[in-house]
Amino acid sequence: MNEQAIIQITGLNKTYPRGFIHRYEALKDVNLSVKKAEIFGFLGPNGAGKTTLIKSILGLLKHDSGSIKLFDKDIDDSDVKNNIGYLPETPNFYSYLTAFEIMKLYARLYTMKDVSTPATRPPDGDPTTLLKTNPPYPPLLKGGEGGLKEGIASPPKAARNDRGGRGNVDDIIKEKLELVGLKDAIHTRLRAYSKGMLQRLGMAQALINDPQLLILDEPMSGLDPIGRSEFKEIMHKLRKQGKTIFFSSHIIPDAEELCDHVAVIRSGKIIKVGSVSELVDTGTTGVDITAKGKLNDRVKQLVKNITCSNEQCIFHVNDPEKTNAILSELIKNGFNIVKVEPVRQTLETLISKMIKEN
Ligand SMILES: Nc1ncnc2c1ncn2[C@@H]1O[C@H](COP(=O)(O)OP(=O)(O)OP(=O)(O)O)[C@@H](O)[C@H]1O
Ligand SMILES: [Mg+2]
Repeated sequence: MNEQAIIQITGLNKTYPRGFIHRYEALKDVNLSVKKAEIFGFLGPNGAGKTTLIKSILGLLKHDSGSIKLFDKDIDDSDVKNNIGYLPETPNFYSYLTAFEIMKLYARLYTMKDVSTPATRPPDGDPTTLLKTNPPYPPLLKGGEGGLKEGIASPPKAARNDRGGRGNVDDIIKEKLELVGLKDAIHTRLRAYSKGMLQRLGMAQALINDPQLLILDEPMSGLDPIGRSEFKEIMHKLRKQGKTIFFSSHIIPDAEELCDHVAVIRSGKIIKVGSVSELVDTGTTGVDITAKGKLNDRVKQLVKNITCSNEQCIFHVNDPEKTNAILSELIKNGFNIVKVEPVRQTLETLISKMIKEN
């Protein structure tokens, strides 16, 4: 395992039945490594295989071949399950309960107790040491049912409020609901919740037990712009606390803002993995020169693409190597240079291109 890899996926393949004979290859030789305390964005178009991989990581789907290690252990390990928070693509909750009641239910499922003891920070370093800080709790459901439930969010987890030392379960529930912006709807029945509010509740339940690893399937779906920026802030905060976040999305600007690393998947195959800055840097497309002056025929011949308003023009230079020559010509022709900026492709254009090319 790579040093500090919280998720390590090697040679993963997954097929679904298609008709009587055929099988559809939903994941093809997927290799990924997610490090501790990073936000990792898993990007791809609809049907690319994002949810399939997430469910495989969580042990909700059985893969055909390859291996998945979380904290250097198998997903079946109860300590591993205790350390994961999961927000499913479409969280389902009992509509006749209130947010507070549903959170209370999850807290009880996770055997959280009303205790308050001093905090013990997990030591940095080997990811397995993160697990050792949690006492092993007996699984709530017997016979392999102690795991994650599809649709209903998150695995049974340990009573992590003893680790955080933040005391009373009711207070923790209120804190999580406030964090996701549901302060005024804590005691509202979920049938009156909007899609965005249910998404916020899904995030709150994923956080209830202070997990070290958060796996979020399209966390920002259904949220308005304010909700999205609130979620991004929450994710930044969690990363600062040393949590690792793996989330899927097809909203690339969100990922560009949030992620340390991204992987792009298309038709079950990973077509790119890298840091956002690396990817964006490789996508420099030219230079924009902003200058003040009067356009004449000589200057018009220098650059094909010029946008002017009032006295100010932007010269869009495709070949960065020609920048110096163009700058000196502009100065010779009486232009005052205001600024020179490299033009970078956004991650969005870059990824759209990659997806089309592949
Ligand atoms: N249970 C299933 N049985 C058969 N095929 C499936 C099943 N679940 C998913 N698939 C197929 O596997 C492929 C990947 O689906 P998946 O749900 O993982 O995509 P996704 O990237 O999460 O898409 P979206 O962005 O729409 O959520 C799709 O072609 C889908 O039709
Ligand atoms: Mg999906």
